[in-house]
Amino acid sequence: MESLGVLLLNPMNAYLEQELDRRCRLVRLWESPPDRRADFVRAHAASIRAVVGNASHGVDAALIDALPALEIIASFSVGVDRIDLAKCRERGIRVTNTPDVLTDDVADLAVGLAIATLRKIPQADRYIRAGLWRNKGDFTLTTRFSGKRVGIIGLGRIGLAVAKRVEAFDCPVNYYQRTKQAYPSYTYYPTVVELAANSDVLVVACPLNAQTRHIVNREVLEALGPKGVLINIGRGPHVDEAELVAALVDGRLGGAGIDVFEDEPNVPEALFPLDNVVLVPHVGSATHETRNAMADLVLGNLEAHVSNKPLLTPVV
Ligand code: DGY
Repeated sequence: MESLGVLLLNPMNAYLEQELDRRCRLVRLWESPPDRRADFVRAHAASIRAVVGNASHGVDAALIDALPALEIIASFSVGVDRIDLAKCRERGIRVTNTPDVLTDDVADLAVGLAIATLRKIPQADRYIRAGLWRNKGDFTLTTRFSGKRVGIIGLGRIGLAVAKRVEAFDCPVNYYQRTKQAYPSYTYYPTVVELAANSDVLVVACPLNAQTRHIVNREVLEALGPKGVLINIGRGPHVDEAELVAALVDGRLGGAGIDVFEDEPNVPEALFPLDNVVLVPHVGSATHETRNAMADLVLGNLEAHVSNKPLLTPVV
């Protein structure tokens, strides 16, 4: 695919960048100053047939319009909520993502965040580093994770992987999803509010779309209550972040483990002093193993596209 002009939106993975550089005609968007991006894109537009973005750097209608030769968008992410899919359909542009290869890592992180939040692992680590164990004695008591009722919003690939993991902790699994599917060992609730009211830990694991934006709102947080913990490994806009911050600050919600935020990389500073939250910077898939597998999927999809073979993981 030496003749394929590829626009890479940001430096997302060294192996991917190196392979794109070796196998295609790679254009790096970040090589142009932010205020000259439009001119830069215009200068390369005729040759760019592929765009590679990720969960943070999507492809909007303006970029699609600026690229008349665009044939394929290969996203280095499973979520494609930042790509204007309607516009792609209209223009006949193909879209691929990176499902499956990241499922285990994202599910591991969900469980890790739940345990870290309830058992206050980062706080305990800070306690030692601040010399407080020596000076003030034992760290505070925390809350058990094993056996807690885990509610999962969305039993797709990642939701099911979370369910499988928490079963090993003897946690009853409850779930909500838009189209009910029968899972004999899990309990279905027809609304997210009812799910939250019957869960100790609520995990957001559904894709982001118009129906799931702010699926965790004030009512859901109230239903989860002052002992409940929210885990978000989906997308920031799944949660009404202002309501989440207010509920945590007021003690109306027990705690939260958060990987994704509404306006990444900006995180509400009101969360920083809180002792009942664990914050991580959108790292669900961020292991060497998974990111390299995601890179291979992006490359495989581009190879398939140029050789007229079926795409490995088509979205559109
Ligand atoms: C994805 O691939 O959509 C994840 O959010 C990346 O961590």
